[in-house]
Amino acid sequence: MTTTRISLIAAMAQNRVIGIRNTLPWRLPEDLKRFKALTMNHHIVMGRKTYDSIGKPLPGRDTVIVTRNADYAVPGCIAVNSLDAALTVSHGDSEVFFVGGAELYRQTLPIAHRIYLTEIQRVFDGDAFFPEFDNSQWIETAREPHRTQGDPSFEYHFVIYDRKP
Ligand SMILES: NC(=O)c1ccc[n+]([C@@H]2O[C@H](COP(=O)([O-])OP(=O)(O)OC[C@H]3O[C@@H](n4cnc5c(N)ncnc54)[C@H](OP(=O)(O)O)[C@@H]3O)[C@@H](O)[C@H]2O)c1
Repeated sequence: MTTTRISLIAAMAQNRVIGIRNTLPWRLPEDLKRFKALTMNHHIVMGRKTYDSIGKPLPGRDTVIVTRNADYAVPGCIAVNSLDAALTVSHGDSEVFFVGGAELYRQTLPIAHRIYLTEIQRVFDGDAFFPEFDNSQWIETAREPHRTQGDPSFEYHFVIYDRKP
């Protein structure tokens, strides 16, 4: 039987900001590239508001949208009304990615096995936040520091946290 790894993937500022007015507060093409490489050929599960901010299914991935609206439908996407249903439709995939936003991260953090977190070493204004998590339950298994070329330049780290056994 295939076990599905449940992963969260997010980019977060130093003050835990992940979004502002339903969009991303920064432009970080390298992070989008990494997101694409990691999620390609997998199920990506997102809240309806995050889907609204993207506005289209992402190619090469099964886009699952979570909403409480039973009549919601988007061509090319799978709409579900609960997180359990999102996991059911992702069954058989080796890894399912919860890709935001804040409301979805809060609810899925307790069941996640892994967090791919881009830690942006700068404070940004925002209205959506990545939830606090208890470091004692997680092991940092990778950290790759990078720096943007633009002005202002800032550091960002690609970090992986795995839940302790
Ligand atoms: N930096 C990052 O990595 C990143 C990644 C993704 C998103 N974001 C940002 O995050 C922000 C959006 O986050 P958000 O918290 O406002 O919204 P969200 O989590 O994207 O979506 C919330 C919506 O999802 C649905 N939903 C949530 N839990 C549900 C459940 N248990 N069962 C059924 N439906 C459920 C509801 O949709 P209905 O209202 O339709 O019922 C709810 O209104 C934006 O600013 C976006 O840019 C950032």
